[in-house]
Amino acid sequence: MKRYKTGISQPILPSEITPESVYRDRRRFMQAALSVAAIPMVGFPSLAGAAEYDIPADLPRYKGPLWLQQKLADAVRNNDFSTSEALAPYYDAITHNNFYEFGTDKRDPVRNAQGFVTDPWKVEISGEVAKPGSYNLEDILAPHALEDRVYRLRCVEAWSMVIPWLGFPLADLIKRFEPTSKAKYVQFTTLMDKDQMPGQRGFFGTIKWPYVEGLRMDEAMNPLTLMAVGLYGNALPPQNGAPLRLVVPWKYGFKSIKSIVRIHFSDTIPATSWNDIAPDEYGFYANVNPQVDHPRWSQATERRLPSSLLTPNIIDTLPFNGYADQVAHLYRGMDLTKWF
Ligand code: MTE
Repeated sequence: MKRYKTGISQPILPSEITPESVYRDRRRFMQAALSVAAIPMVGFPSLAGAAEYDIPADLPRYKGPLWLQQKLADAVRNNDFSTSEALAPYYDAITHNNFYEFGTDKRDPVRNAQGFVTDPWKVEISGEVAKPGSYNLEDILAPHALEDRVYRLRCVEAWSMVIPWLGFPLADLIKRFEPTSKAKYVQFTTLMDKDQMPGQRGFFGTIKWPYVEGLRMDEAMNPLTLMAVGLYGNALPPQNGAPLRLVVPWKYGFKSIKSIVRIHFSDTIPATSWNDIAPDEYGFYANVNPQVDHPRWSQATERRLPSSLLTPNIIDTLPFNGYADQVAHLYRGMDLTKWF
């Protein structure tokens, strides 16, 4: 079995254990992390929708452009699609991240992404659709009302968080571009920008940048699949994939691609980054499955954040991350040990 020296292949990283002192002194940590650059996206006035979330005063709220702030403020909670489990503390959600474009350590994205320019932003729609083109994010979002949905996010590394996202169903977006009958799969691509993304410059040479992910069309059209533009009542922080990311809650977190610039429809299965790197470890489907272990660790349990050495908070992992009722039918008849 090949071994890859990547964060994603280590269930518990040393970096998650060592910075306890940093973690304890949160204010100092955030100041250090955020002092790297002038930060146009960060602001402290609260948005209307943010009041219900426990966001400590010493942590930044991310606002995004004016046109987005109004949409975020109008977002309504969709309880039908929300879990009532305890939310991850906001601090954990915005400082414990995987975003390899900004570095492989869990703390690298919050340290390195603060100057990331996410406005203006364009998304290219291409392939098997009647209405391809390059669209401004504002136009992409214009017809969609935002919903607030609380989802479980289960990383393949066996940690998980409960996060309140603001977004809208991917299905509603896809319909607008009128996919042809040949559109069997959809591929998403993250921004390629070596100047802004230090992780794309060298060193971590395993990923063939840009990061790509994909879904089968019926997965993309499932009502659970969300295009997110915010979390905890505010805009997405850059480290969480601003300004537009995917959230597919029944799949391992690596499918939930960040900072999307292209959505491409095809009749053949698209390339996906982690599957390209290690096809025997990361499948195209990547459905959360406690019965199919990663070749190097068990997937039967997960460490629900917040967790610490003394209180690891280990819980059982559920098939399809607890969303079996909504999605198990998509895989009827498939051998999930083969199509992992
Ligand atoms: N998207 C891009 N472009 N690059 C990445 O490295 N990491 C993925 C996913 N999306 C990743 C990405 C992984 S492994 C996980 S677990 C989630 O983002 C983490 O999302 P979060 O940092 O918002 O919790």
